[in-house]
Amino acid sequence: MALALPLHFFHALFMLVFLLSRMQFSLSSSGFIGVNYGRVADDLLSPAQVVQLLKAQGITKTKIFDTDATVLSAFSGSNITITVGLQNQQLSDAAGSQSFTDTWVQSNILPYYPNTLIDAIAVGNEIIFAGLQDSTQLLVPAMKNVYASLVKYNVASSIKVSSPIALGALETSYPPSAGSFKPDLVEPVIKPLLSFLKQAGSYLMVNAYPFFAYTANSDTISLDYALFKDNTGATDPNNGLVYKSLLEAQLDSVFAAMNAVGFNDVKMVVTETGWPSKGDENQNGPSEQNAASYNGNLVRRVLTGGGTPLRPDEPLNVYIFALFNENQKTGPTTERNFGLFYPNEEKVYDIPLH
Ligand SMILES: *[C@@H]1O[C@H](CO)[C@@H](O)[C@H](O)[C@H]1NC(C)=O
Repeated sequence: MALALPLHFFHALFMLVFLLSRMQFSLSSSGFIGVNYGRVADDLLSPAQVVQLLKAQGITKTKIFDTDATVLSAFSGSNITITVGLQNQQLSDAAGSQSFTDTWVQSNILPYYPNTLIDAIAVGNEIIFAGLQDSTQLLVPAMKNVYASLVKYNVASSIKVSSPIALGALETSYPPSAGSFKPDLVEPVIKPLLSFLKQAGSYLMVNAYPFFAYTANSDTISLDYALFKDNTGATDPNNGLVYKSLLEAQLDSVFAAMNAVGFNDVKMVVTETGWPSKGDENQNGPSEQNAASYNGNLVRRVLTGGGTPLRPDEPLNVYIFALFNENQKTGPTTERNFGLFYPNEEKVYDIPLH
């Protein structure tokens, strides 16, 4: 039958497939900007007002640090995806038995999903580098139990399981190509974690703050480089790749560390990054202007498309930290001033978010 079709049919079909594959490429080449909705504060808007604020800003992805019922209900029908958290203090129970995670999923996920678009569960936050030695070995067992529960309730294909790691999990991060994990973490937790993520079709969550690197080394790191402003860039002497921003160098040091332990095919989402608009005394870097530059240039960089020098075809997917200034975070100043908004929804500075 097919042989009877004229040649130009195949030519047209080929062109169509070719064009479609190109379209796919250009659609997938720019990543997303989400915002962390942290709530360590006693003066925030109601979750329903927050949904309106996010919509008004064109933000379609958010992340919270727990499974607060009021928040998850408020996002029902909003079409805003939300990554939720199983908290560090529940890790031990979650690692202990699947009956715990079955119950946890039944009471914290299933009542809301899919009207509330829960897209991922962050199991613990920065467990690998929270100084919680005992917790480290609980991490992957807890993730596996959460995953098994999602499978049991038939939602594992749409809700991913991962866990945010801090850059402190790295032994070496400079130059980026030399990135490596702390040797004592590799066998106990890093390899099992990456192997789980690969099998489950999930991604590594990474919290990366050029701000903290800059403020600790402002004599050697250029502010323009940290803020994604025009700069001459930094060349990695091992492979000649040129870095125009500190964030991309940090992310590539994680990719290099993953490559070094044999996982060059696990994707990454930056679950936190940001810059404070006010800082503690004698601290270099915090200012409204710098925060506006960092986050504004970050949004532009992500939406322009493309990945890091080591993974140029993998779009950057980033959650900014954070939506609000949070008055009950550790003081005195820096940690409480990462917000894009004041609690009354006034902007701390004005940048486009989409
Ligand atoms: C929901 O969000 C997705 C992705 O942001 C968008 O493509 C889609 O059009 C939205 N649907 C509605 C009903 O708003």
